[in-house]
Amino acid sequence: MRGRFITLEGIEGVGKTTQVATVRATLEALQRPFVTTREPGGTPLAEDIRALVLAPREEAVPGSAELLLMFAARAVHVANLILPTLASGKDVVCDRFTDATYAYQGGGRHVPLPQVAALEAITHGGLQPDLTVLLDAAPALALQRAKRRGATDRFEAETVAFFDRVRAAYLERAAAEPARFVVIDATQPLAEVSAAVAAAVVAAAARWNAAAPAATPASTGAVAPEVEQPA
Ligand SMILES: Nc1ncnc2c1ncn2[C@@H]1O[C@H](COP(=O)(O)OP(=O)(O)O)[C@@H](O)[C@H]1O
Ligand SMILES: [Mg+2]
Repeated sequence: MRGRFITLEGIEGVGKTTQVATVRATLEALQRPFVTTREPGGTPLAEDIRALVLAPREEAVPGSAELLLMFAARAVHVANLILPTLASGKDVVCDRFTDATYAYQGGGRHVPLPQVAALEAITHGGLQPDLTVLLDAAPALALQRAKRRGATDRFEAETVAFFDRVRAAYLERAAAEPARFVVIDATQPLAEVSAAVAAAVVAAAARWNAAAPAATPASTGAVAPEVEQPA
């Protein structure tokens, strides 16, 4: 059976990378095999593109160039890591995916959304995340957290107005696809955010088990961490 695709989204500093650990621990408890990865990046070539696109530089980077670089990295990542992993029966947990391109290049940089959609169709036509956890917080708080990490990349150097647009674009996508997204208030203390993330993964896994042809007695939404996914 194919694995499931879980993505974490949100602006800089909301806690995505921190919450990858929560998703890992939850999938381990559910006995679901998984691989964790990130975007841009996730394979050697895609990580090289990441370094190019994130490095602060003097030269202007047109939104169109940023868009194409993001999708170039994604095309490599999807073909060489995400699809083979899902096909092997493992879940994929990804720190950012195409929602980030809609939010950053679309919302943030004003790239027309149909252009993002056209590249999305080329890059991963049939593939969409099964669960997207959107961590939401105002830029003022999130960027303050991100700054504590030290050196800033090309995006972290952006204005609050830019991140307000990115955040709004994320929330718009979440509202349009409520079945895929779980929006979590990332201003809460870490323990509470982690509990909400774990609950989102447990609930999604229960739905997936119930939908699986070989699943054990129909799940009623109750947690069944002992149920193993057929390979
Ligand atoms: N709920 C929280 N409350 C307070 N600090 C947090 C919380 N979640 C994450 N942090 C801290 O904020 C910083 C940014 O988190 P990180 O996971 O790197 O964000 P992201 O990957 O979304 O940019 C880190 O120092 C992290 O420890
Ligand atoms: Mg991060």
